[in-house]
Amino acid sequence: MSQRIHLSGASEIPVGTGREFVAGGRIIALFHLEEGFRALDGICPHSGGPLAQGTVRSNVVTCPWHGWQFDVTTGRHCLNAHLCQTSFPVTVDGTEVFVELPE
Ligand code: FES
Repeated sequence: MSQRIHLSGASEIPVGTGREFVAGGRIIALFHLEEGFRALDGICPHSGGPLAQGTVRSNVVTCPWHGWQFDVTTGRHCLNAHLCQTSFPVTVDGTEVFVELPE
């Protein structure tokens, strides 16, 4: 089972940026890429940095604290194949963005 939670209006997050939300008891990093929205667990596994505040280039987010990088489309760490940040399905309904989280 999953729960569908409203996060934001689509126009509120410029392309190439991310924003942090608290939803379903989790910190979610929502990114607006050229091809659409993606959501990852917003807490960097290195030391808890805020991934949503990282710089996004070519679908890669760089954690603002120490520079770990993750592919936003898959959650995979760019250097360590064993690290994969949890990702969550995102849907856009009209002008509104929703995330699906496990209950
Ligand atoms: S907390 Fe993200 S790289 Fe250190």
